[in-house]
Formats: sequence, structure tokens, C-alpha cells
Amino acid sequence: MKVLVIGGGGREHALVWKLLNDSRKPEVYCAPGNAGTAELATNLDIGSEDVRGIVAWARENRPDLTVVGPEAPLCAGLTDLLEKEGLRVFGPSREASRMEGSKVFAKDVMMAAGVPTAQSSTFTDAAKAIDFIHDIGAPVVIKAEGLAAGKGVTVCATLQEAERAIQESLVEGAFGDAGRRILVEEFLEGEEVSVLALTDGVHVVLLASAQDHKRAFDNDQGPNTGGMGAYSPAPILTPELMPVIEREVFGRTLSELKNRGIHYKGVLYAGLMMTKAGPKTLEFNCRFGDPETQVILPRIEGDLIPALEACIDGTLSPELVRYKPEACVCVVMAAGGYPGAYQKGKEIRGLKMAAKVKQAVVFHAGTRLQDGKVLSAGGRVLGVTALGQTLKEAVDRAYQAVGKISYDGAMFRRDIATKALVK
Ligand code: AMP
Ligand code: GLY
Repeated sequence: MKVLVIGGGGREHALVWKLLNDSRKPEVYCAPGNAGTAELATNLDIGSEDVRGIVAWARENRPDLTVVGPEAPLCAGLTDLLEKEGLRVFGPSREASRMEGSKVFAKDVMMAAGVPTAQSSTFTDAAKAIDFIHDIGAPVVIKAEGLAAGKGVTVCATLQEAERAIQESLVEGAFGDAGRRILVEEFLEGEEVSVLALTDGVHVVLLASAQDHKRAFDNDQGPNTGGMGAYSPAPILTPELMPVIEREVFGRTLSELKNRGIHYKGVLYAGLMMTKAGPKTLEFNCRFGDPETQVILPRIEGDLIPALEACIDGTLSPELVRYKPEACVCVVMAAGGYPGAYQKGKEIRGLKMAAKVKQAVVFHAGTRLQDGKVLSAGGRVLGVTALGQTLKEAVDRAYQAVGKISYDGAMFRRDIATKALVK
């Protein structure tokens, strides 16, 4: 069996690693991959957004399954194009991917479906948006409609900040076309969690709960990032809450999409705020989370491919996803300066030593191979991951492995999962 994985981050390294352990022993290709996937699979010199290049490769090489990691190729219609070639793809169509690609579309679906979410209004005109924020007051959240590389959302403590964010998006075009429409959204308070689900459009199987750490520095200080670490399970998502989320968030959303004639298959990821009034949906993503995937996949017992194929075939059922009892923790090691300007090309040492720590695995994110050396090549460099009988044991092992790794300017949080340990 031939499997093609699209993407080159920590999420994709984790996917490649898990897929290779499948009992069908697939041959795995990764476009473009990183130094970590290069050790396990065949990297292809095709960027994850080079939709034409991917389709051309797939037409010739006929993968039995393609798993798409990032949102950009999904939103660009990669699934649709590969399916036209008669190929099987795990990942939503272009239209279904609008759940992530257009925050206006996602909000409209949520409102129509009765999914608990923040109140919001949509604007294309800056003056009208500014009048509106003066009516509702701060704090308030300004969101560019489209994909903006994680930078399109500004949580504004003051009206001045909100005015600035409106001007940037609507007048100065800071996010290009992605920011020509904005949502002005009610500010929600609480702890944030991610719930990911597999779906074939009708059936939903929630994946194990996971929590990300979005801020760059300890104690949730500093700027928002792609994610500085994660842990699973997330104790805040109690066994009583999961069925509520399954019904009120995923069930309602999928039946609304179905009513609109949109068939969603793949991963649907809900970013939730646990407010005093219950969980409210902040956003949807049309893909696996990064770094959530790095802590969910190591916990899955046995094969993953049957579950992914069932999403394509419409035969998804909960027995296809079983978990080990262990907890899992991923500490992201980033480049100094991330998420602002950072340097690349730093030699990474100690990877072999880190991998020897019990139950640890180092997922690469922004890395590349050069002359046999592993060099940093992105903002998030590694996802140092470990399983443990308890979250505490997983945390200790992950940090033990982090301690073996060094490169110039390495930056990581020292408090991954501590919030969960004190509960
Ligand atoms: P999003 O891409 O919509 O998830 O937004 C990125 C981040 O902004 C989220 O992870 C939250 O930390 C924050 N955020 C988004 N919407 C809200 C909201 N309505 N209230 C408070 N924080 C928010
Ligand atoms: N960890 C956040 C995301 O994948 O969007």
C-alpha cells in the first residue's frame, strides 16, 4: 500500500510515524516532509501548497491513500482534484474546508445549526465596524475572514487596539484578500481546549481530548503562536462533557452542512472556550491540529489507516479508534525569537540521546538535512513527545528528552501540562 502525506511539520512527522506502524506496512511518501520524515519515509521535493505538483505526482504514482495535513491545500481544493483522478483522499473538499477557510461561513453554519459560539457581526467597511465597536465596547475580538497564517485574530483589550486591528485588515490590507471582510466578535473568557473528531460526514468519532499552549512564554504570557506544546488527555474535558460537545458542536454542525449539500469527511477540529456558560466554539479547523496530533496519535492503539479509510467510505465507527491508557505530552522547541523574526540553519544536537529516553519520540517540525546534519528550518523546530503512565510521568520524560537536545537560541516553555497537574 502506498500512502502520500502532504505537509512538512510536526503533525506530518507524527502522521508518517503512526502510518508506518500500521499492520499493512505501507510505503509512505511525504510532500515536502522534513528531516524527521526523511528518516522514515520518502520525502518529495514538492511544497504542500503546490497543488498542481502534488496532483501531477499522484497521477503518475497512484497512492492508495493521501492524507492532507495543512489547511491551505485543502482550502485550495486538493481533495477535489485528487478525487477527479480517481484517488482516495482523507481530507475535506474545497467547499467543506470553508469551515476553516472562511470564518464568516463557519459562523453562519454555527448560527444556523444552533452551535454555542460567540456573538459576532461581519463588516467590510471600516467606519461601520468602528461605530459598532463603540456601541459594544471592549474587550472585543477582531478576526480576518480568511486564512492568515494564524495572524488574523486580534484579541483587543481596548477600543484603540480594536480600531487599529480594523484599520489594518480592512484599510491597509494587512492580510490581503483574507482580511477584506472581518468578524467583530464578543470576547469570551475561559480555558481553551481543542476537540478533534474524525468524520465521514454522518458518523463522528471524537479523538482523545488534548490541550494546546498557544502563548509563547510560561504562564500563558507573550504573543500567540502556532502552539508551544500539548498534552492528552485534557482533564478539563471530563467524560460528561465529551458527549455534550459531540452532540451540540459536531452533530449539529455536520447536519447543517448536510442540509446545505456539503459532505464533510476528514478531521473536523473545534477550538472551544470553556466559559462559565459552558463550552463555546471559537473556530473550526478542517485538519488535524499541530501539536495536538503529536499527543493524540501516540496514544492510539493499533492501526490508524482503517479509521481514515472508513471516513472516506462512510463506515466510520467508534471501535476503529482505541486508546492506550497512557498520557502523552509534547514540548515544542522553537527558534529564538519565534513567533517574531528568528534565525534558521542552526545545527541540532542530541536527537539520538533524546530518542533513548523511555517512551520518548522526537517529532521534527521545521528541520532539514544537510550533509548528514539536522538543521533548524522554521519557527517551531521540534516536538519532543513522551508517553507516561500518568501526565506527570509523561511531562518528566518529555523534559528529560528536551534536556538532551541543544541548538543556538533554543526556546521552549517549561510549564507544558502543569495546569493539568495541579487540578
Ligand atoms: P481563532 O483562530 O478563531 O481560534 O483565534 C485564535 C485565538 O484567538 C484563539 O485561540 C483564542 O485564544 C483567541 N480568540 C478567538 N476568538 C476569541 C473570542 N471570541 N474571545 C476570546 N478569545 C478569542
Ligand atoms: N494547535 C493549533 C492548530 O493546530 O491550529
